[in-house]
Amino acid sequence: MMPGLSSREDFNAAANEFPEPFRLLIRESVGSTNDEIRLLAQAGAADGLVLLAEQQTAGRGRRGAAWFSPAGESLAFSILVRPTVPKALWPRLALAAGVAVAEAIETFGLQAGIKWPNDVWIRQRKAAGILVEAGPDFVVVGIGLNVNTTRFPPEVAEIATSLKNETSQSFSRAAVLGAILSKFARRRQEIDEDFGSLIAAVQQRCVLTGYRVKLSTSTGGQVGLVEGISSTGELLLRTDAGLERLIQADEIRII
Ligand code: BTN
Repeated sequence: MMPGLSSREDFNAAANEFPEPFRLLIRESVGSTNDEIRLLAQAGAADGLVLLAEQQTAGRGRRGAAWFSPAGESLAFSILVRPTVPKALWPRLALAAGVAVAEAIETFGLQAGIKWPNDVWIRQRKAAGILVEAGPDFVVVGIGLNVNTTRFPPEVAEIATSLKNETSQSFSRAAVLGAILSKFARRRQEIDEDFGSLIAAVQQRCVLTGYRVKLSTSTGGQVGLVEGISSTGELLLRTDAGLERLIQADEIRII
């Protein structure tokens, strides 16, 4: 663990160690790194560009929610992926990113769980969120991780956490970013080459398995017991009507 907040020099030094093909572009303030990198993708940027913002003024979560990332305390970045695999496999990048973030957190001595499909939890609280958005020939993997954040807005204060809140120590954001990219470099390969290993990593960390949950989908609400994650990445939910296999859900709450 390294103390203090990362300066731009720390990020640039860490970037020298990033695995191929990742390279770093830092912006002081943007609306959303996902939107910003999409423009760069449309202008022809190559696979592996990582756009990090010290501050986002319109950070977005899934379902249109705002994403809170205070300047200099958290990691807010987007990775440009130009997949070489069929489009049907692109959603698997979200699982790869979730596993990569969890594994990176674990390299700093914490235990991380995955709240399907790809929120990353530490001790029942959300530490990271991932927003994957596809373009015609590229995918943007947006990652927000609470690193040294200690105060959250009231609407998320009860469910959010950070690496610092969990350990009372500050972390180098540059080191954490490097760890995520190292893990993602490997996990992204698995979406077609070794999906079994990727799913096993999700299954092993799934925080919902064995819990009763209430969830909402595009077709309505459901209550059931989570039996686990299938070999194809679906959530297995035991309801009164039988075993449901869900490919997505809007909101899931443990009850
Ligand atoms: C979620 O949990 O709902 C997903 C949150 C994703 C937040 C990240 S921060 C970097 C990137 N830019 C955004 O606007 N959103 C993602």
